[in-house]
Amino acid sequence: MRKKIAAGNWKMFKTPQETREFLRAIKSLPPPSCEVVIAPTYLCLDAAVSESAGTFVQIAAQNCYSQNQGAFTGEISPAQLRASGVTHVILGHSERRHVFKESDQDINKKCNLALKEGLLPIFCVGEQLAERKTGQLRSVLEKQILYGLEGIDLPAADKFVIAYEPVWAIGTGETATPEDAQEAHAFLRELMGRTAGADFAQKVRILYGGSVKPGNTAALTAKPDVDGVLVGGASLDVDSFGQIIAAVRIQG
Ligand code: PGA
Repeated sequence: MRKKIAAGNWKMFKTPQETREFLRAIKSLPPPSCEVVIAPTYLCLDAAVSESAGTFVQIAAQNCYSQNQGAFTGEISPAQLRASGVTHVILGHSERRHVFKESDQDINKKCNLALKEGLLPIFCVGEQLAERKTGQLRSVLEKQILYGLEGIDLPAADKFVIAYEPVWAIGTGETATPEDAQEAHAFLRELMGRTAGADFAQKVRILYGGSVKPGNTAALTAKPDVDGVLVGGASLDVDSFGQIIAAVRIQG
């Protein structure tokens, strides 16, 4: 059985002090039945790692660079993240793809190095509204997976996570229906079967992201191929993220 995950992507929100306060509150909740991952900004990783040590909360970075050191002003490397106690890294988030113009090739290089450094990638894919409306859902996901993971020696399936985040559902209040999510997740699992083998495909966790809230988490995670959620806005508030963690369905 695939252990489900509730992951919070804090984007460019919260100070180190606010990070500590949030983690103190969340770690005092009863131990959840799903894995819990929080992705604060780089600046708050240190506070998050020390505050979450020995608890059920794992810490992710929101991005990394594709080289481990050098003259790359403003960038942070996988080796630096690992040395700071970070265990996960979100890669290919739609804001990285569309606001910062990261290509599948950029994401591929980052993913390759992140894996070599022992970070667990949360590898994001998702289509834009116009692509969905013109019937390109599958071809967009296929391209993002095939180019993004090209030549990568994938680790054991429990050390790699995929997140399906339709761009039109991120931060818009518009969620994919559980059926839409299931259809995309089933396709992604089938695609992973073709590229990484049936065993990997059965074991890899695929999260849904895009306007996840306490009220829609149970229905989404009840679907057989939805193995958890990647939450933006609703992960910033302890009560709402706590409700999401509690609502993640253990079994479909
Ligand atoms: P949202 O963001 O939950 O605010 O829609 C999701 C994400 O960007 O991962």
